[in-house]
Amino acid sequence: MKIFLDTAETDVVRKHFKTGLIDGLTTNPSLIRKSGRKHEEVYQEFKDIGLNDISMEVIGNTENMISEGKRLSKKFGKVATIKVPCTVDGLLACKELAENNIRVNVTLIFSPDQAILAAKAGAAYVSPFVGRVDDNSFGGLCLIKDIANVYAKQNWTSTEILAASIRNVRDVGRAFEYGANICTIPTKV
Ligand code: G3P
Repeated sequence: MKIFLDTAETDVVRKHFKTGLIDGLTTNPSLIRKSGRKHEEVYQEFKDIGLNDISMEVIGNTENMISEGKRLSKKFGKVATIKVPCTVDGLLACKELAENNIRVNVTLIFSPDQAILAAKAGAAYVSPFVGRVDDNSFGGLCLIKDIANVYAKQNWTSTEILAASIRNVRDVGRAFEYGANICTIPTKV
């Protein structure tokens, strides 16, 4: 039952990290852009704060994602989790990175089928987008439950469910109840 922060604001993270309750952090290109800083500078500051699991999103085609993922992993070591989108390119990149013992978070998961493919590609984490599924009039929390059921029925333990796009406190408790292993939470929530 891990709590991650979903942000690129280093000052806020420093404050919350002191509670001892924060297990990791996720970022994405929009959050980094909003911080107005260079992504690697932000990652380094998080690492210096003491975070030991930082999702760093890579973009482009399979080759771009693999080379950038390997570079970031070499630079930041074990704290780096490489985040890729659940697209064909992203899944191929996931497979290659995972085979190189790099922890991969497959993001933009909107169905159990995507979560199955990501698991097969070696993802350490899948990130179902609870809030965005709700925005589209489907049940975001049901998605967590469905993925957790599939993994449980298949005795699949090598991929953890990281509930993302969390918009309120109630969803955090429910996501854990429905089988999320991790919730990544914006600091305002
Ligand atoms: O973790 C994903 C998140 O940053 C997107 O959240 O609220 O924009 O759907 P939201």
